[in-house]
Amino acid sequence: RRFYRGDTSNSLWACMDRGMQAEEENRWTFEIAWEAANKVGGIYTVIRSKAYVSTEEMGDQYCLIGPYKEATARTEVEEGPLGSPLLNEAVNLVRAQGFKIITGRWLVDGNPQVILMDIGSAAWKLDEFKAELVYGSEFDVILGCMVANLIGEFRRVTDIGDGNTPKIVAHFHEWQAGVGLIMLKIRHINVATVFTTHATLLGRYLCAGSTDFYNNLDKFNVDEEAGKRQIYHRYCLERAASHLSNVFTTVSDITGYEAEHLLKRKPDVITPNGLNVKKFSALHEFQNLHAVSKEKIHEFVRGHFYGHYDFDLDKTLYFFIAGRYEFGNKGADIFIEALARLNHYLKSAHPDITVVAFLIFPTKTNNFNVESLRGHAVTKSLRDTINDIQQKIGKRLYEVCLSERLPDSTELLQKEELIRLKRCIYSLQRYSLPPVTTHNIQDDWNDPVLNSVRRCNLINTSLDRVKIVFHPEFLSSTNPLFALDYEEFVRGCHLGVFPSYYEPWGYTPAECTVMGIPSITTNLSGFGCFMQEHIADPMSYGIYVIDRRFISLEDSVQQLAQYMYDFTRLNRRQRIIQRNRTERLSDMLDWRNLGIYYRQARMRALRMVFPDFKEEEVNGMGSLKYPRPISEPPSPSSSRVTTPAASVHGSDDESDSVDEEGELEELRANH
Ligand code: UDP
Ligand code: G6P
Ligand code: GLC
Repeated sequence: RRFYRGDTSNSLWACMDRGMQAEEENRWTFEIAWEAANKVGGIYTVIRSKAYVSTEEMGDQYCLIGPYKEATARTEVEEGPLGSPLLNEAVNLVRAQGFKIITGRWLVDGNPQVILMDIGSAAWKLDEFKAELVYGSEFDVILGCMVANLIGEFRRVTDIGDGNTPKIVAHFHEWQAGVGLIMLKIRHINVATVFTTHATLLGRYLCAGSTDFYNNLDKFNVDEEAGKRQIYHRYCLERAASHLSNVFTTVSDITGYEAEHLLKRKPDVITPNGLNVKKFSALHEFQNLHAVSKEKIHEFVRGHFYGHYDFDLDKTLYFFIAGRYEFGNKGADIFIEALARLNHYLKSAHPDITVVAFLIFPTKTNNFNVESLRGHAVTKSLRDTINDIQQKIGKRLYEVCLSERLPDSTELLQKEELIRLKRCIYSLQRYSLPPVTTHNIQDDWNDPVLNSVRRCNLINTSLDRVKIVFHPEFLSSTNPLFALDYEEFVRGCHLGVFPSYYEPWGYTPAECTVMGIPSITTNLSGFGCFMQEHIADPMSYGIYVIDRRFISLEDSVQQLAQYMYDFTRLNRRQRIIQRNRTERLSDMLDWRNLGIYYRQARMRALRMVFPDFKEEEVNGMGSLKYPRPISEPPSPSSSRVTTPAASVHGSDDESDSVDEEGELEELRANH
């Protein structure tokens, strides 16, 4: 389990003293992102999950800066002065310029200091900011300019001329924040800068069309393409920020390659995304959590498919895709296509197995639809009625037994109760098919998921072995249908399917991995490539990498359908073993290991700006590889070479107990 940690003598561990070393060196880090304490997509996950290691390393010499969004700030940020008096002073100086700034601590692991800029409060200054930036676009540049004001003031108050120049790194994420970097350079403020791009604007736009992106990367006329898509100004900001930064980073090699061609700068460091991995004291706790969460998903399925609940939940598998609603970029197109094929395979070969495929993509809706709500109401009413009758039967049974005899069956269930039950059963009848979506989607006829499932005829008939549930809203525990937050939902599923075409990193499969849930990713996603680089045989660890780069679209769909079909052929024992293996990869995705690259980038920037700054070179993970699991059979015993071998762990039956010692042995041998 200390595969990486033990290896890096000068790793983060060496300097985790909650900022003492940083304080001694007068070293400061600001991290600026639109998604700091403001949830939009994966960048929020980067900033939030990394907060713990950042504060371990830097203490109150570390501070996040983002936009002020009232709704999130109210629930996620504890307002108050910052830990560092110098920072408070700088904030007050900017406030005195007429801007509203909220300070406090973000209520996440690490409890970092956070400064939130109220953009509206600086609207009056927009023209002046633009003039200074020599920039004519209508686009909002306020956040970046406010950040530059703040860092400028901070630089001034900390540099008291005692020769101990503050070594400040301002680390900007994405082009919105990158405006701040450009302003710092225009104003010649002496701080080291890092710019990280999590996707290029142009790349995202080009891929969303039907461009053969990766084969033409070196051929695009970038200015013209940006102009055609009306993103020219933003594109210029992104390109300028990447060129002006001391150190430029991307979240993966594949995005580095993209940046080299579209932004015309190669990244200096790759900063792969990590997670704040929490280990349970009991090794198999995550397996128990899977069972608990799966039961909650079962309850949803009972309600959603009422009246057509003719499949065995014990032989039902839950697959899902989730993320921002970028239909083609996220691979929802090929997922639905491959599900149609899976439906066909299962119907003809294994009609006892059912797959429920959840698609979670937020889009505009007019709330839940009546059919979904009704389904949950009728099952709830049945459950309540049964609970009530059960209690009454219990009382009767007690009374009868007290009189020292056994009741006969007619005494237990009374006629009136039978009628109540019959009424509930009648209300379970349904003349329509279970809906493919839980909500009324505003633009139903143009919605790409709905159009695709209609075209593929995946409409939840009884004969279909693949059922579809499109949930067009992110999950939260207050959701009346699921009562699960996203993490619990993921834990309860069997397989995450993320066949993205455009995915600089892709947190969704990474999150599955640390929760011990196998997933499908692609060789066009940063995560997929990273796993291929560091694991000898990713598939045997439950990481299925679809080729979306070197084979045709048809072949990718076919490969995806085949992987999903192979997965349905695993029995319970094999799934449990596979989940154990998947979870073993968590260390690799832990910020405690991957945070090193951020440190590397910052140190490099500091050395460039402050040549006398001395810091050892920080080494990365290198070419370490997770070996193939030793229980791999010499020849395939199941449909694929990498299917966990049931023969090694006992019989091939469906029993859910696993030879854990065997798995533990395998674990010890590997690490
Ligand atoms: N996510 C979420 N709720 C959901 C579905 C997804 O919070 O119901 C989160 C998920 O945990 C992940 C993020 O959305 O951290 C998506 O990040 P990813 O890097 O996969 O894609 P992006 O949206 O940034 O392109
Ligand atoms: C976990 C639990 C087992 C349960 C199993 C179900 O491993 O610890 O008690 O039987 O999950 O696995 P499945 O893949 O069928 O959902
Ligand atoms: C972007 C990318 C996503 C990545 C995230 C965090 O939103 O689309 O792939 O995981 O940033 O880096």
